[in-house]
Amino acid sequence: MKILVTGGAGFIGSAVVRLAVARGHEVVNLDALTYAANLANVAPVAESNLYSFEEADIRDRAALDRIFSTHNPDVVMHLAAESHVDRSIDGPGAFIETNILGTYNLLEAARANWISQGRPESFRFHHISTDEVFGSLGETGQFTEETPYDPRSPYSASKAGSDHLVRAWHETYGLPVVLTNCSNNYGPYHFPEKLVPVVILKALAGKPIPVYGDGGNIRDWLYVEDHAVALLLVAEKGELGRSYNIGGENEARNIDLVRTICAHMDEMNPAGAPHERLITFVTDRPGHDRRYAIDPTRIRDELGWRPSVTVEEGLRRTVSWYLENRDWWEPLLTRSGVGQRLGKAG
Ligand SMILES: NC(=O)c1ccc[n+]([C@@H]2O[C@H](COP(=O)([O-])OP(=O)(O)OC[C@H]3O[C@@H](n4cnc5c(N)ncnc54)[C@H](O)[C@@H]3O)[C@@H](O)[C@H]2O)c1
Repeated sequence: MKILVTGGAGFIGSAVVRLAVARGHEVVNLDALTYAANLANVAPVAESNLYSFEEADIRDRAALDRIFSTHNPDVVMHLAAESHVDRSIDGPGAFIETNILGTYNLLEAARANWISQGRPESFRFHHISTDEVFGSLGETGQFTEETPYDPRSPYSASKAGSDHLVRAWHETYGLPVVLTNCSNNYGPYHFPEKLVPVVILKALAGKPIPVYGDGGNIRDWLYVEDHAVALLLVAEKGELGRSYNIGGENEARNIDLVRTICAHMDEMNPAGAPHERLITFVTDRPGHDRRYAIDPTRIRDELGWRPSVTVEEGLRRTVSWYLENRDWWEPLLTRSGVGQRLGKAG
């Protein structure tokens, strides 16, 4: 397959790019190289003749038209987005522009190209979204694909908006789409403003490890390389017009996740032990959803996918990767906003 991956210089997009090239697919990586991007994420495949890179912004329709007519992809995997909830609280405009208007542009560029190619049935537009569109759960229950949308942050509202556009382009114009809504990812190449790398790098530096609120917020943790496998499977075998929830089957309270990371750090960086002493509770994020949990029945029963690593093992691999890849993360610490408390505005 020839796959156009948007956001392929980001965290999840780069995992998709690396896996797709390793499996012999031709990949065009389209990315605007925002603060969250890093071409080092795709260095392992950058020299492959299956790989090419297009620096472009999904808000720029003319650039998208040029890229579609140059490459004529069989599949679009759309991951480009503004992705950090705290930044969406401080500056929602960029989220509306990229996540909603950018997705609209990409849909229109894809549709124009699909029509010019004779509307091939095999074409796929795969939109990668989040479980945050479903809102917050109580103590029990899980999100299914039928759960009503109830987004509560500018980020999740913008992703919900893009999901609706993608469904509408299928129903109205017949564009062959599939959608996925996944839970919190973690793993290698994760930008150091998100919880897991923040904890690892603060612990390594012997600095306070910030935990929002009482640390009781629950997420369903998905190892990014497992997610990439699921995404390629949905792109190849997912039923047209259908959405699939992807979870890690690993629900954990933030505080327990942080303690597990600290325990791995104690083992791999004994000089700083016990790292747990660095845990510091800080003011909660406004509108912080309490619990997310995914019911993975559809993707498991229809496509036979299940996560391959437990959160314990995935965190061990992740901590070890950060300890061995200082050259990757150190330059990112000077990027705008990294290491600062964002998203406190109430
Ligand atoms: N990280 C998670 O836990 C998670 C969970 C659920 C869903 N998602 C979704 O998965 C996708 C990828 O997330 P991620 O964590 O890899 O994000 P990321 O922030 O690491 O990467 C996003 C990439 O998109 C690019 N980008 C941003 N705006 C762009 C624009 N206007 N034009 C072109 N490129 C642009 C950035 O340069 C970056 O490389 C997003 O759509 C996100 O909503 C992420």
